[in-house]
Amino acid sequence: MTRSFEKVGVVGLGTMGAGIAEVFARAGLTVVGVEADHEALGRGRSNLESSTGRALAKGRLSEAEQAEILGRITLTTSLEDLADADLVIEAIPEIMDFKRTLFTELDRICKPSAVLATNTSSLSVTEIAATTGRPGRVVGMHFFNPAPVMRLVEVVHTVVTEDGLAEEVAALARRLGKTPVSVGDRAGFVVNRLLLTYLNHAAVMLENGLATREGIDTAMKLGVGVPMGPFALLDLIGLDTSYEVMCVLFQETRDRRHAPAPILRELVTAGLLGRKSGAGFYDGEAPPTPPAAGKPTVTSVAVLGEGAEEFAARLGDAGFKATTTQAGADATGDAMEDADVVVALSHTPVIELAARLPHPGRLVGLHLVGDKLAEVASTVLTSPEATCAVEGLAKIVGRVPVHCKDRAEFVVDALLYPYLNDAVRMYDSGYAGMDDIDAAMRLGCGYPAGPFETIDALGLETVRDGLRALYAEYRDPAFAPAPLLDQLVTAGVRSIRGLS
Ligand SMILES: NC(=O)c1ccc[n+]([C@@H]2O[C@H](COP(=O)([O-])OP(=O)(O)OC[C@H]3O[C@@H](n4cnc5c(N)ncnc54)[C@H](O)[C@@H]3O)[C@@H](O)[C@H]2O)c1
Repeated sequence: MTRSFEKVGVVGLGTMGAGIAEVFARAGLTVVGVEADHEALGRGRSNLESSTGRALAKGRLSEAEQAEILGRITLTTSLEDLADADLVIEAIPEIMDFKRTLFTELDRICKPSAVLATNTSSLSVTEIAATTGRPGRVVGMHFFNPAPVMRLVEVVHTVVTEDGLAEEVAALARRLGKTPVSVGDRAGFVVNRLLLTYLNHAAVMLENGLATREGIDTAMKLGVGVPMGPFALLDLIGLDTSYEVMCVLFQETRDRRHAPAPILRELVTAGLLGRKSGAGFYDGEAPPTPPAAGKPTVTSVAVLGEGAEEFAARLGDAGFKATTTQAGADATGDAMEDADVVVALSHTPVIELAARLPHPGRLVGLHLVGDKLAEVASTVLTSPEATCAVEGLAKIVGRVPVHCKDRAEFVVDALLYPYLNDAVRMYDSGYAGMDDIDAAMRLGCGYPAGPFETIDALGLETVRDGLRALYAEYRDPAFAPAPLLDQLVTAGVRSIRGLS
């Protein structure tokens, strides 16, 4: 018998719950929204009004439709109002004790046939289910932020989920206009396991002073095409939620990379939770635009490395005296000697080269990523004037400069490759298929491509070699290329997706 879901309860109307309530109401279901107390209920109501208000302002909703959607949602502070709901989904904080207490109550109040769902990002659905007398009818229904916009729903089943229930919940997700991906119960599921690991890595990078938060955000947006940089996204998700998810991941894996970056704990303790508290990594709604680099005061530039001729020609067109030179034997030649700055076009650190020059302070590494970004790498010997000049030169050739330290893979690739490696390991562990992982990252995060599509586009060998360089630099075992990736490169396979 197929279950019919007509009346749903949503418990917790914060960042996620308000959006989830809206999604159900938009699809014509009757919704009961429950908050902890009257004050929180007031915030929940304004969350709902502002989210539908934004859709109204953007012309995606008429006033009549907005009224109709809000009219389907009843708000209460009493869980008892969920007695006849067909499905209840909770979106209260990511703390196991809170969830267990709530599910015990829901199990007592809700009719026996009701399905209880959690929107948890990382906690064990099995453990939550076990607190109830109906573990077979407890699933994860994991929406993404903002719920009305993001198309993915991860439907999480456990080893005791009733046969067919995950499919029925997936069908409900489709009715809501979403794309379900069905997954087993593992900390972080598909998306947060990959996404939060990457976001935490960015926070560690910031703590290590590799680049600024604006620089890292700009680099990832322009270099990879993600809709938001990691710090803007952490602010959107909520730093408390992100911190809790990292703790759960770490507890399961004991992988140092899953230990929350200390800066997350500090910000959370200070009450800086991101957008929901008005400030987090950034103070306002949107990250400020990085200040523009000034016009370079240098006149002569020596350029070396891959693409040097084209780069020098562009500078020549702009009125600079630009000469190309080779990194090899004549690295100390006249052009290098005389130039005001030396630009080393490189995707690897440039300190070795700098150390061989008569004026090492004048050498700056420049990594051109895609067609918009230039990572500007200064070594411990580079002068601030040279860095500033090369940032200006990058702008002259039509790129946005992002300054970083001279470290393996600089910013973009250092963040991207380990994430791709994690996806390969996840696939190889048998947890999820490549198509599901690709779809989950595209639809859950708004990424332009899934990780396996990205690996194929970049080339397996490029990714493998980048990982080797990262491993050599940081000695973190997680950066060592996944054995599957290594073997595919050795075997000469050109498309990882060809395996799926
Ligand atoms: N923030 C995200 O991007 C995101 C994305 C997907 C999933 N999630 C998950 O959704 C859940 C909620 O996260 P959030 O970011 O919306 O948190 P939030 O802090 O923004 O909202 C939680 C809400 O729950 C309410 N609440 C607390 N205890 C309650 C109770 N006993 N009864 C009723 N309401 C109660 C709070 O008043 C608050 O409004 C977490 O499990 C989180 O992991 C979050």
